[in-house]
Amino acid sequence: MSGQTTESVSIYFATGATTMETHAVLVAHPDNAIVWHHDRLYLLDQRILPAEAGFIVCETATETAKAIRDMVVRGAPAIGVTAAYGVVLAARKRFAADPTAWQQAIGADLELLAQARPTAVNLFWALERMRTFLGDLDQLDPVPALLAEARRIHAEDVSANRAIGELGAALIAEPTAVITHCNAGALATGGYGTALGVVRSGHAAGRILRVYADETRPWLQGSRLTAWELQQSGIPVTVQADNVAASLMARGEVGWVIVGADRIAANGDVCNKIGTYALAVLARHHGVGFMVAAPTSTIDLNVATGDEIPIEERDADEVLTCGGRRIGPEGVEAHNPVFDVTPAELVDCIVTERGVIERPSPDRVGALMAADTTTPASDS
Ligand code: MRU
Repeated sequence: MSGQTTESVSIYFATGATTMETHAVLVAHPDNAIVWHHDRLYLLDQRILPAEAGFIVCETATETAKAIRDMVVRGAPAIGVTAAYGVVLAARKRFAADPTAWQQAIGADLELLAQARPTAVNLFWALERMRTFLGDLDQLDPVPALLAEARRIHAEDVSANRAIGELGAALIAEPTAVITHCNAGALATGGYGTALGVVRSGHAAGRILRVYADETRPWLQGSRLTAWELQQSGIPVTVQADNVAASLMARGEVGWVIVGADRIAANGDVCNKIGTYALAVLARHHGVGFMVAAPTSTIDLNVATGDEIPIEERDADEVLTCGGRRIGPEGVEAHNPVFDVTPAELVDCIVTERGVIERPSPDRVGALMAADTTTPASDS
C-alpha cells in the first residue's frame, strides 16, 4: 500500500457491509485520518494500518463513540475533531426525529461521546465547544451550522499544528536525531501532527536528521503508525523497542525527545502515552532536551496538577497478546494503564500554537492561556 495515490480502499459500514471505493478524498494518507464526505464521517482505521487501508463509516453518534472507544481513531486532537463531527451526526438524527426538542434530546449523545475515552481533554473541549454553539442556534435546520463549526474545529487544529511545527523546529539549534513516543502525528490530529509536526518542520529546515520511533507497546502506535507516517513524508525513521532509549541517549546519539500530550495540567504536568515519563527521566539524566508539542486545546486549567488527570486503564489482553497472538500464560494478571504523568520539572518546553512555555510553571501556563490568541509569542 503506497497510500499516496487514489487506490481503492475498503469502506466498512456499521451494518457489516463492506465496499471498495476509489475516490480522491478517501485516500489512505496520514493527513486523511478524519474525512467528512457525502454527509458521512469516514475514519481511517488505525487498528489495521499500515498492513491494510480501510475507512470505517460513522452515520450516528453511537457509531462515532464506538470508533473512538475501539481506537479506530486515536490521539487527543483527532478524538476531539471526531467527536465534533459526531455531534453533527447526532443533531441530524435528533432534529429529524423531533425538530422542536432536538436540543434537549442531544444531551444523551454528548454524554455518550464524552464517555468514549477518559484521558484526552480535547474530547471534552470539543464537545463543550459544540454544546455552547448548538445552544445559541435558532435556525430551522441546525445541521449546516453545526457542520461548519466542526469543520472549523478541524481546520483550526491543522493550523495550530503548523504553527507548533514552526515554533518547535526553531528550538532545535543543531541538526540532530530525536526520539518520539507513541504517535503524535497527522493521524493523531486533524492533520500535520504535533510532535511529528515539529519533526516535519524540523526536517524540512535541516534540523532533524533522523527519528527514533519507540514501538510503544502494547498498541504499537510507534512501529505501525509513526513509522508509516514518517516513511510517507520521506523522513528517516528507525523503529526501536521501548527500552532502547537509555543506551541511545548514553551514546549521545539524540538531541531531543519530542512527544505529544493528552492533557496538560495548570501547573505544566504532562499526561501522555505510558512510557513518556520514563523518557523524561532519562532525558534529564543525559542532558537531552524534552519537548512537549500540543495545542492549547490540550491544556486543562481545571486540573491543578497531573494527579487529578484520570488515567485510562485498558483491557489486560492488550498486554498479554501481541499481533493478535496470546503471549502470556492463561490466567496471569496484567495491568494496562495507557497514560502516565510527567512532572512539569522534567519538561524543558511545551510548544503550543500560541507560543512556547519554557520550564513550565503555573504562572507561565496561566499567562500563555490568558494571552492574546492572535499573536504567537514566547515567554522566555
Ligand atoms: O492511546 P492513544 O493512541 O490515543 O494515545 C495517544 C497519545 O498518547 C498521543 O501522544 C497524544 O494523544 C498526543 S496526539 C497529538
